[in-house]
Amino acid sequence: MAGNPCYITTPIYYVNDVPHIGHAYTSIAADVLARFYRLFGRDVFFLTGTDEHGQKIERAAEKKGVSPQQFVDDVAKHFREMSQILNLSEDYFIRTTDESHIKAAQALWSKLDENGQIYQATYAGWYSVRDETFFAESELIEGKAPTGAEVEWVEEPSYFFKLSEWQEPLLRFYSENPDFIGPKTRLNEVVRFVEGGLRDLSISRSTFNWGVPVPGDKDHVMYVWLDALANYLSALGYPDTNTAKYKDFWPVATHLIGKDILRHHAVYWPAFLLAAGIEPAKRIFAHGWWTKDGSKISKSVGNTIDPFELVQKYGSDRVRYFMMREVPFGQDGDFSDAALINRTNSDLANDFGNLVQRVLSFVQKHAQAQVPQPGVFQDSDQAFLKKFKELPDVLTELAEQQAIHKMCAAVWDCVSEANRYIDHEQPWSLRKTDPIRMQTVLFVLMEAIRHLAVFAAPVIPEASDRVFEFLNISEEKRDVASLSQDVLVPGSPLPAPEPVFPRIEKVV
Ligand code: MSP
Repeated sequence: MAGNPCYITTPIYYVNDVPHIGHAYTSIAADVLARFYRLFGRDVFFLTGTDEHGQKIERAAEKKGVSPQQFVDDVAKHFREMSQILNLSEDYFIRTTDESHIKAAQALWSKLDENGQIYQATYAGWYSVRDETFFAESELIEGKAPTGAEVEWVEEPSYFFKLSEWQEPLLRFYSENPDFIGPKTRLNEVVRFVEGGLRDLSISRSTFNWGVPVPGDKDHVMYVWLDALANYLSALGYPDTNTAKYKDFWPVATHLIGKDILRHHAVYWPAFLLAAGIEPAKRIFAHGWWTKDGSKISKSVGNTIDPFELVQKYGSDRVRYFMMREVPFGQDGDFSDAALINRTNSDLANDFGNLVQRVLSFVQKHAQAQVPQPGVFQDSDQAFLKKFKELPDVLTELAEQQAIHKMCAAVWDCVSEANRYIDHEQPWSLRKTDPIRMQTVLFVLMEAIRHLAVFAAPVIPEASDRVFEFLNISEEKRDVASLSQDVLVPGSPLPAPEPVFPRIEKVV
């Protein structure tokens, strides 16, 4: 029975432009974790969506000569398509233009107001439309935002949130919840930033209209980040907090984000929540950034990477695996076609694909195309399978730290182990010398492959499904609970396998 809830979120993506590799990255990571927890029968709520308000989007619509609503409806479609082509299994796709979200964001505002956290004044300072972020003069680098984005001077009536009052409570919160921010280096960064002092935050804009109206003041729209962050609550039905959904999922919220939006998530968000009397999320994990062939990815350089093109070239499993395995989650990484091809040829074609093909085609030819009838297991068989049986615990611990690259490594260690076991046991020789032992070895290998198909599924779901088909294992037997059952029945027929990952010979 489902239980033990998990709530995993991606950032909601700005729809000023089509999806790119940065969006694909966080979404794949969140999907891998969501799929992993579902294997254990856990009750998972995986949320993604689009951030559709703000000046950046209003300007993008203007530039295209269409209304903001028409513009966002159009671009949001591409993000839904990205979910499909990457095989994402989100439970809900939120849009900040959804009526229910607008109501929730306004409810959060009203709560902050009721709690005496908002006052009206004038904002005069720098603003980066690209980052949708206010910057202090002292933060600018050569007249630009630290991100390199242009800033403009803004002077307008604005509502402010009393962020400065939350310095001490936030520092206390970080120290009492040392796992709130990962990786650890990011926690240190955030603590240093907050220790440096917090200024009150402008939370409304009054010089344009494309946003959530501030309750009770039609001249202001909510600052897009307050609106956007509220999505994590509105997806659970906030302000109705009296539902099982809200009560189950909110306390276990894990937000996956890129390192560039750490301040918004690790400082502003918990401050808003504490100020509204709501417990902050359980965990925030910031991943690194991808460069392309060693250079920063940017539209002006023309080296952006289109996830749709990538999937068309390589298939979604290869893209997913490469991005998850190549770079330690939390660190920066470099994307190149050559690296993707090398990594996936080696791990997916040579190691994983070859193992499956070797064993199952041997069974087709030399074991009557049916699940082998094993004899007595030897100690070496038990020792070999032990490593596979330990995977649930090993992987769960890594998943709790969002160490997705290590989860892949742990599964692929077992792939290598299985390839070594074949070389050592030599079923092709046993065929003549000891056919019963051959059947045992093949059965043990099929058990190993069954475990691998379960635990590789979160990262390469398509290939795993094919392997399950070759093993003749039905859909409801592809989870962790089934691993302790005798799912492979000796004597049952097996279809002819086909290569799951043909090698890619050259850069396409
Ligand atoms: N709308 C905000 C998030 C609001 S969440 C309440 C936003 N959107 S975004 O579309 O600009 O960025 C979404 C994510 O893409 C961020 O986590 C960001 O780190 C990530 N990436 C953008 N470019 C990237 C790379 N080159 N590499 C890795 N991730 C990067 O911010």
